[in-house]
Amino acid sequence: MMKPIRVGILGATGAVGQRFIQLLVGNPWFEITALAASERSVGKPYGRACRWLLSADCPPSVREMIVQPTEPGLDCEIVFSALPSSAAREVEERFAAAGYGVLSNASTHRMDPDVPLLIPEVNPEHLQLLEVQRQKRGWTKGFIVTDPNCSTVGLTLALKPLHDAFGIRRVLVTTMQALSGAGYPGVPSLDILDNVIPYIPNEEDKLVHEPRKLLGTFSAAKGEIIPAEISISPTCNRVATRDGHLEVVSVEFERKPSVEEVIAAWEGFRSLPCRLECPSAVEPTIIVRREPDRPQPRTDRDAGQGMAITVGRVRPCEVLDIKFVVLSHNTIRGAAGGSILNAELMLAQGMLP
Ligand SMILES: NC(=O)c1ccc[n+]([C@@H]2O[C@H](COP(=O)([O-])OP(=O)(O)OC[C@H]3O[C@@H](n4cnc5c(N)ncnc54)[C@H](OP(=O)(O)O)[C@@H]3O)[C@@H](O)[C@H]2O)c1
Repeated sequence: MMKPIRVGILGATGAVGQRFIQLLVGNPWFEITALAASERSVGKPYGRACRWLLSADCPPSVREMIVQPTEPGLDCEIVFSALPSSAAREVEERFAAAGYGVLSNASTHRMDPDVPLLIPEVNPEHLQLLEVQRQKRGWTKGFIVTDPNCSTVGLTLALKPLHDAFGIRRVLVTTMQALSGAGYPGVPSLDILDNVIPYIPNEEDKLVHEPRKLLGTFSAAKGEIIPAEISISPTCNRVATRDGHLEVVSVEFERKPSVEEVIAAWEGFRSLPCRLECPSAVEPTIIVRREPDRPQPRTDRDAGQGMAITVGRVRPCEVLDIKFVVLSHNTIRGAAGGSILNAELMLAQGMLP
């Protein structure tokens, strides 16, 4: 068996950082050797610096690890970044310049033309951008690869087989996003109890642009991604669920499919990470539920250990062509689990040291 790759986690004490720890502790390809956070936590044992939010206990193997400053010099080969966007730009570039592979959850670099925005089941070929990135930035070993916004992931995974089979023109999407998506402590309880907040700052813009990049084509001649020509109109809402983003979607196609053809496209979907036997890849990646009242956050968010998405309520749309509901786990599939799968895909393809 190969030696596990040594990894560090930036923003290790936050909501996403904790998910990284939980998922990486059981991962055969990686070993956590460094944890970093803000000045508030530096120098403390992780178990004291962090207010553990997840349902299972904080793994004993990390409790006594001392939280380090967020500076290159960490004892690891790659870092998973769960930093706030404000801190991510400069810090992630510094790590990449120092030779670390950076797999980031932050939005900062997602739309940079030379940075792959990656869902391994959707656009693995976009990793070819790393050559462009290294040439442009003068990095020899380090790199930055990002994963999408948590509400982009479920939507784009659901659209991918449909776009390949029928061509997508326009999409209307309304999200109902869980509280954990706002980090901790997040939205004050008196704002969200008995309520829905029809606004999430900076969220809708990501849903307009990120799926177009993800479903776009890598042009080797131009060294860039040509975005898919899809118009997306999102409305994002914060609701009082804990985990799991539910999205209501209507789609207009170039070639009009029936409901059964849409379902067949999802059920026939196979992915490269599964073929490469990446530990975090699950098959099916897209689960189709035929009950009239599924998917629901509580019953479906943990499907496939939180790495599968669930679609349901597939039916003709009175305005566009087909409408459906999609659910994905926002801190697993939509954040830490997605980044880990990005790293696994790179490792399986010989792209990590
Ligand atoms: N929550 C989600 O569902 C989700 C999904 C996708 C993407 N994301 C993205 O993932 C990132 C983390 O989100 P989160 O929800 O985990 O946030 P969070 O709970 O607020 O955690 C932030 C983490 O970053 C550390 N930090 C803050 N400022 C820092 C600085 N200047 N230098 C170094 N470390 C700093 C904090 O350390 P201390 O504890 O020491 O302060 C903490 O570990 C964000 O960019 C977010 O947009 C989140």
